[in-house]
Parts: sequence; C-alpha cells; structure tokens
Amino acid sequence: MAYDAIILGAGAAGLFCAAQAGQRGKHVLVLERAPTPGKKILISGGGRCNFTNIGAGPANYLSANPHFAKSALSQYTARDFLDLIESYDIAWHEKTLGQLFCDQSARQIVAMLLEECDKAQEAGGSVEVLCDQDVTEVEHTDGCYLVTANGKLHGAHSLVIATGGPSIPKMGATGFAYDLARQFGLKIVEPRPALVPLTLGGEDVLFRDISGVSADVEAKSDKTTFREAALFTHRGLSGPSILQVSSYWRNGGTVAINFLPDHSDGWLLGAKRDHPRSSLKAILKEHLSDRLATILSEKLGVQTELGNAPDKALRAAEAKLARWDFTPNGSEGFAKAEVTAGGIDTSELSSKTMEAKNVPGLYVIGEAVDVTGWLGGYNFQWAWASAHAAARAL
Ligand code: FDA
Repeated sequence: MAYDAIILGAGAAGLFCAAQAGQRGKHVLVLERAPTPGKKILISGGGRCNFTNIGAGPANYLSANPHFAKSALSQYTARDFLDLIESYDIAWHEKTLGQLFCDQSARQIVAMLLEECDKAQEAGGSVEVLCDQDVTEVEHTDGCYLVTANGKLHGAHSLVIATGGPSIPKMGATGFAYDLARQFGLKIVEPRPALVPLTLGGEDVLFRDISGVSADVEAKSDKTTFREAALFTHRGLSGPSILQVSSYWRNGGTVAINFLPDHSDGWLLGAKRDHPRSSLKAILKEHLSDRLATILSEKLGVQTELGNAPDKALRAAEAKLARWDFTPNGSEGFAKAEVTAGGIDTSELSSKTMEAKNVPGLYVIGEAVDVTGWLGGYNFQWAWASAHAAARAL
C-alpha cells in the first residue's frame, strides 16, 4: 500500500502528527525503532509528564532563528493541548511556573496519543504504528519516498522525520535525523547537550564538597537569567536554574549565581549596623543552608564579627554573593541532557508547515529541529505544535 505519509519515530511529535494527519483522512505509517512507542514520554516529568507549559511562547525557545517557532506555536497552543487532555478526563495539576503535569501517570499521555491515532478510522484515514523497525534505507524517487525497514519496502508521498535528538543515548536516542538531513542536503546547526548538569573543576571544585545542598538562586548565563533552585552535586552544578542556563552556556563561559536574589543593595552594611556582634556565616544561615553558608563565608574570608569588618570588605562580599561566577569545565553531556539544542537548521524549513523548502514532501518536526525549549513542558509543547503544523500540510 502507498501511504500518504511515513513518519519516522513514534515519540511525542511522531505520534501526535500521525493522529492529527489520520484524523484529516490521511493514511499514515509510523516506523519506530524501539519495541514500544513514546518511551521518553513515559519517563518524562518523573513519570508524570510535564506535558505542556500554559505560558509557552516563542520567548521560551532557543534557536538560531528565534522567530521560527512563532507560527507553529500560535497554530497549536498549550490551551489546545490542555483541551485534548481534558477531553480524555486526564487529571492534571500546575506544579510551578505554568508547568502542567498529569496527576497520575505519563502512561495516560501515551495511551491518549495512541487512541487519537485510532480515531483516524472515523475520518476515513488510518494510522499504523510499527515498532522494532530497523530503517536501513530512505530514497526519494519520482515524488515518492521509499523506506526500507526490517527488509520491507514502504512507499509514501511524504516523509516526516520525527526521530528526535541524541540526548540520552542509553534510551536509544541517536542522531539519525541528522543523517537523513545530510542525505537530503539540509544544513544542521551543531547539536549540543541542553538542560544538562554542568561540571566544576579548578577552584570551583571545592563546592563539590557540599554535594546535595540546594538553594533558591538566580542563575545567569549569556544575558539570560532564571530564578529557580540550584543544586550542588558531586560533579558540579544541577537543579532547575542550572539546567535552564546550561542551554545558553557555551564552553569557556561563566554561570553567574546570585545567592541572595531578594536582598537589595547595601543589605550587608545594614546587617553590620543592626547586628554588629553577628558573623557573616550566621547572617547567611538565616537564608541559606548551614553547609552553603559555611563554605561561602569561608571563601569570602570574612571571619570576624561584622562590627569589626571594614565596610569595603563587606561591600565586596555583598557584590560577590550577588554575582558568584562559576566557570564550568564542561557538562554531563548527551548522557544526561534532557534535550538537544541545535539540530536541523530552521532556514531549511517552512515555519508554517515544517516542510523542507527544497525537498517537497519532506518534513521535520520535534526535537530534531533547531528549536529547543526551556525546562518546564516547553519541549513537549514544541513537539505537539510542530507536529500539528506538519499534519495540516501532509
Ligand atoms: P522523541 O525522542 O520523543 O521521539 C523520537 C522517537 O524516534 C523515539 O521513539 C525513538 O526511539 C525514535 N527513533 C530514533 N531513531 C530512530 C530510527 N532510526 N528509526 C525509527 N525510530 C527512531 N519535555 C517536556 O516538555 N516535559 C518533560 O517533563 C520532559 N521530561 C523529560 C525527561 C527526560 C528524562 C528526558 C530525556 C526528556 C524530557 N523532556 C521533557 C524532553 C522531551 O522528552 C522531548 O523534547 C520530546 O520527547 C521530543 O519529542 P520528539 O518526538 O521530537 O522526540
């Protein structure tokens, strides 16, 4: 049978695209390498899937072209996906910062997507999902895409690349999308790990001693600031604020941490005035954990009572606490990265349909594209929105 479309990858983007196209009466074949569909959905959000962010907009995404995501995100919004969730009676809650999670299990999202695929039949379409597929060859001849998987040849008018990025290779993630992109002459923005813990060496290595300690900080890299928790680990820095800035961080760059983001200028001199017998460590302990307060006050070298410390030293300590520059020596790499930044260059694609401008019938959606969301449901929203845009055009 010749399909209208073959979708490579039954992840978030692939399944949603198949369901949407099927419900428009299209005949779709989905080829998935893993034994089961939606594996990353199942482990996402600690098993509860942070399926969207209610505030998702273009400003929450990184891309060489920051305007590219606008069209797809406006065609299919977080509210649209939430309506779908509610139509399945899937109970959800907002955890923080607009992040929406299932009350029960991420399995509900995969089940919903598969049920959406089945609904294709009501519209005269069809969706077939084949797992355990080894795609060995993809050809484009006479306006038809020919895909060989498990030794069997499948044909379709359109081909959708939805095989994600190489983050978490242990789960079977690969750079297959990029291999296909190169085959079809599409440029690639160098992929790099994003939403990933950063590693510390050199002077900063001492902070590893407080592994397990976290603090509500403001973390900044390359002009972008996030106010969330940071966590010291035995390898370096993690926690939501660090994962967020890691997407902006480049090798050799710094991550600036404000340990006391709610304190206004001059607070430490004020503390000297009000509590001259107190130590810096004791003052810091009012806001930070014991171990963090200890290491910070040691490193700042203010060991005397505040009343005996020169104003100049206190001003310097305050400034350093407001901007403590760490220079990570690397990241924990694709092995620990929640997503891949970079990917198939958006200049190759139509932002309205995700179709390759110079290869008719070839579409790229989801994480394979050079559009990377912040932590907090934004990446799934991109998967849904880009899939929806492509499905309307198939
Ligand atoms: P995805 O990776 O989901 O799917 C690609 C599919 O293609 C996979 O099923 C893969 O097996 C298949 N494939 C690969 N190569 C193939 C080949 N050669 N042939 C056929 N099939 C192939 N995001 C978010 O918004 N909220 C969250 O809570 C989380 N949580 C989270 C936790 C963890 C641990 C990770 C690693 C990631 C997240 N994410 C997230 C990110 C989110 O999972 C990710 O952005 C989306 O899954 C991307 O959807 P895609 O469909 O593009 O790729």
